Amino acid sequence: MDAQSHWDNIYSKKAPDAVSWYRPHLETSLKLIESAAPGLSASIIDIGGGESTLVDDLVAHGYQNISVLDISQTAVDVNKRRLGSASEHIHWLIADITKAKLEPGAYDVWHDRAVFHFLTASEQRLAYVRQVANAVKPGGHVIVSTFGPEGPTKCSGLDVVRYDAKALHQEFGVRFRLVRHSKELHRTPFDTIQQFLYCLCRVD
Ligand SMILES: C[S@@+](CC[C@H](N)C(=O)[O-])C[C@H]1O[C@@H](n2cnc3c(N)ncnc32)[C@H](O)[C@@H]1O
Repeated sequence: MDAQSHWDNIYSKKAPDAVSWYRPHLETSLKLIESAAPGLSASIIDIGGGESTLVDDLVAHGYQNISVLDISQTAVDVNKRRLGSASEHIHWLIADITKAKLEPGAYDVWHDRAVFHFLTASEQRLAYVRQVANAVKPGGHVIVSTFGPEGPTKCSGLDVVRYDAKALHQEFGVRFRLVRHSKELHRTPFDTIQQFLYCLCRVD
């Protein structure tokens, strides 16, 4: 099964709050985005936004230039329905992030919670980092969250790569200055705990 069918299949079978990565609000992501965004007109893209409520919270905070990219049309459709008329002001992109056509220097803030860790092949990771380097403005920020060193080795039946801050930063290279990193213990809807890592980098 290709990646798009895999994710469409997951989202068509499970309710938004029944997936292991669900949180009512992505509080850590939101705080990091607020610390990095130069203002409410900042251009923000959420990579692999899935059905998360981050986009709702960004709209509620008054951000005016929000994009959400996901490989799954099913997830994007759920988000659009939940947001109602507010969804018309969001730029929705259905694409594989390793292949998407993104405008150079389009974004002030790049956010990804739990997508990069699915890239188990080095060519995929290189393609992803090339996308970030092309699409984020110089002086912009990149927030990437993956499973931490003690996190699970699989998610939704797929293998993942776990990272500490140093290893994740190494994937991105010296053009990305590591500003802050933290770990979070995420309680899943099934009452298990997963360790997540968050890294905030500035693009120099
Ligand atoms: C574990 S979920 C995380 C969803 C959301 N970021 C959150 O934290 O609730 C991973 C998401 O990434 C999307 N995804 C997986 N591989 C992708 C890829 N190569 N390109 C774009 N989206 C991808 C999936 O469809 C899914 O919505």
